[in-house]
Amino acid sequence: MAVNNDHRTHTSAGRPARAIVETRDLVKRYGPFPAVGGVSFEIAEGEIFGLLGPNGAGKTTTISMLATLLPPTEGSATIAGFDVVRDARKVKELIGLVPQDIALYLQLSARDNLEFFGRMYGLGGALLRQRIEEALAIIELGQWANIPVGGYSGGMMRRANLAVGLLHKPRVLFLDEPTVGVDPQSRKHIFESIQRLNRDEGVTVIYTTHYMEEAQALCNRVGIIDHGRLIALDTPRNLINELGTGVIHLTLEQDGSGLVDPLAALTPVENVSWNDGVLAVRTRDAQAALVPILDHLNSQNLRITHLEILEPNLENVFLAANRQEITGVEHGQANSGRGGEGHQDPPAGSPGVRYVARHADHAHRHLEFGSPIHVRAGAPRLRPPCYRLRR
Ligand SMILES: Nc1ncnc2c1ncn2[C@@H]1O[C@H](COP(=O)(O)OP(=O)(O)OP(=O)(O)O)[C@@H](O)[C@H]1O
Ligand SMILES: [Mg+2]
Repeated sequence: MAVNNDHRTHTSAGRPARAIVETRDLVKRYGPFPAVGGVSFEIAEGEIFGLLGPNGAGKTTTISMLATLLPPTEGSATIAGFDVVRDARKVKELIGLVPQDIALYLQLSARDNLEFFGRMYGLGGALLRQRIEEALAIIELGQWANIPVGGYSGGMMRRANLAVGLLHKPRVLFLDEPTVGVDPQSRKHIFESIQRLNRDEGVTVIYTTHYMEEAQALCNRVGIIDHGRLIALDTPRNLINELGTGVIHLTLEQDGSGLVDPLAALTPVENVSWNDGVLAVRTRDAQAALVPILDHLNSQNLRITHLEILEPNLENVFLAANRQEITGVEHGQANSGRGGEGHQDPPAGSPGVRYVARHADHAHRHLEFGSPIHVRAGAPRLRPPCYRLRR
């Protein structure tokens, strides 16, 4: 597992790194089912920490335990040294939680919602009025803050939901998928608010998402969780360097199926596929791979009509980490795109990444990340629209 617990260098703005969140073998079981199957990690004060994973991975369950909403079945967790079970009251004072589902009264305006929740938190008078103005200034709803939330766009509702979590100036802010269903402009706005809170107020942020590119852009460090287990933990850059692979796409005029095996044998190529006139060459080091690939194509007098390099990113880190962890998923070998019976060809124009899923469940989970999946003969069938998804 790509886990690096040395986070001392990853706090923002040079603040001293101190673990403000610590979890030890945290487990949550529903009956025999482990929604969270024993996770351990530390988050330094001042970090923006991303908890990444597909639907059902255990993100909400993990942060619900940290936020004192769910008692762990086993293991322990502390926030600023306070135990989330024994010292739940103290922990609640230190944290803010922005839940995955919008938790606002639709008939009230954002301002009135803030007043209501502020009173619930025990705030009142001038202090509450000041906190409401501060929270509204962060989310910048302008005059919309005074009309009922039911009339807001999805992005505005998300911003109002965020404001509630800020009211009592938490030291640790949990944000559970705060950008689901928002347009790019609102997403940018939410990102900027989070970055400002982290930079100017020193708020530690724990951010769950299944959007890999969000975590890459926002987080100092990420934990990748799947099936209730942490499968990778490090800075996005280190994970990408360690596990990420880039893809070189070469569009050819001629048939390139005969190139798959010779190119796959080149160093540092990991695998090659040929689909719809495009060779997809997966490699850890696109720069180093390019010269021998081009040499080989030139020696065969093959003409490249288009060349594209896709940089390694957290999405293929997830896939690589998963490949190591999940026995039900195998990494396909270099091939020409013609699998056995029951094998599904990738969508046209896909990078041709080959993952063979033994269980439709695994394939579905990967598809959440938008990667093409090839289903092994005999595996339960996926619904057809799933095959259409691509990165
Ligand atoms: N109250 C519950 N009873 C039984 N199973 C549950 C309960 N809550 C969650 N689960 C299961 O635990 C697993 C983890 O769920 P969780 O909500 O933590 O995932 P998640 O990573 O937040 O997913 P999503 O991205 O869809 O929000 C899932 O398989 C879910 O079905
Ligand atoms: Mg969730």
